[in-house]
Amino acid sequence: MTQTEDPASAAAETDLDGILQGGRLAGLAPESLAQVFGTPFYLYDLDLIGRRVKALRSILPPGFRVAFAVKANPALAVVAHLGRSGVGADVASAGELALVLRAGFDPANVAMTGPGKRDDELAAAVAAGIGAITVESIGELRRLESIAARAGRRQAVLLRLAVSEDARLETVRLIGGVEGKFGMPLSTLSEAAAIAARSPNLDLLGLHAFGASNLRDADQLVAHVAQLVDVARDVTREVGVRLRLVDAGGGLGIPYADDEEPLDLTLLQRRLQSLRARWDEVPELGDMQVLLEPGRFLVGPAGVYVARVVDVKGPDSAPVAILDGGINHALRPALIRSEHRLAVLAADSIRALVPVTVAGPLCTGIDVFATGTCLPRPRVGDLVAVLDMGAYGFTESMPWFLSHPGPAEVAVKGGVARLIRPRLDPEDVLERQIDPNWES
Ligand SMILES: Cc1ncc(COP(=O)(O)O)c(C=O)c1O
Repeated sequence: MTQTEDPASAAAETDLDGILQGGRLAGLAPESLAQVFGTPFYLYDLDLIGRRVKALRSILPPGFRVAFAVKANPALAVVAHLGRSGVGADVASAGELALVLRAGFDPANVAMTGPGKRDDELAAAVAAGIGAITVESIGELRRLESIAARAGRRQAVLLRLAVSEDARLETVRLIGGVEGKFGMPLSTLSEAAAIAARSPNLDLLGLHAFGASNLRDADQLVAHVAQLVDVARDVTREVGVRLRLVDAGGGLGIPYADDEEPLDLTLLQRRLQSLRARWDEVPELGDMQVLLEPGRFLVGPAGVYVARVVDVKGPDSAPVAILDGGINHALRPALIRSEHRLAVLAADSIRALVPVTVAGPLCTGIDVFATGTCLPRPRVGDLVAVLDMGAYGFTESMPWFLSHPGPAEVAVKGGVARLIRPRLDPEDVLERQIDPNWES
């Protein structure tokens, strides 16, 4: 039987939803995974990541490219898988640059963006021959120019524009004249563009602006791209150098709650197609390329954090379950103050649904995953999954706090689970410390 004749496997091919289906994680029994890898652990479904890459790329018009924002999940095996699935990479540091080079990315498909890039980081990026370096200020542009000159290179640059940081605005706004942490205001852009256009060591490739995080509204995303391309057209006219790329950053959103709708990819496709058609009529924009740098959209739903219940207390009608891992490994829910969906992975009988508080083992009141969330009544020994943790999960946490073991990280591909990063052993952390023993 071919795949298309089998409705179940055809559905699996297009399924962009979470890693948890029918009580199994990426098709595997959670308890077996826990027995092999121990708890707590992170699990990433590489096949689901592949499907999400394919779904996004398939709706993009010609001239649109995708680069994975490595900061969302810098696990080498995840990044390497993304590289093999054909996307580029957005890196924010020399460490992330080294990671993507180790993962086998073509430097030409790598862009570096981020505030506070040190000279040694800019030099490493120039030496590696990466496709674009985004500069955030005129000062950084001048530093990059001398670094490129010293290296005898001509480096492609993007000028980063500041945007309003209010993610709830109807349309993301480029900032006129205020200097902030990210990028430069529109008032500085002409000067920066003129410097880059004049320099023999810089190739003024285009503009960059990150709109807003976790947008599930296709219209808002497209309005941001359109706005940026309009500015690129104006800069082209002003400095007489044709800009060829706008990097619209990431921000493609995912649902974190049951009542949230996913980003409508069909609508996004339609809106981007009409945008592309409009540019084709503008001489300066005919060969304009657009780079999207999603992190969360590609990997968020494909990762889960799993911990074991070590204690249950309180009344049966409203129990409190304490897990063997918490915000030391999965800080995002507390950091962003947004609860993630939880699942009690109980292999046995049907359980009553009750309001449950789920907390980690840390001695801080913020180490709580859910307060009074309706879940099957947990028991000691159960596994609990924190869903949608594939992006800004372990990487955004604080594993040293309270010296608990760190979680193992595991990837699943084609139904096979493999360890991709061993558990962090508190002994190793201890080994790396020095007591100078001042008295002796
Ligand atoms: C420059 C840049 N690009 C891309 C991203 C990825 O954003 P997201 O994961 O929301 O798509 C970020 C996130 O902070 C970013 O700063």
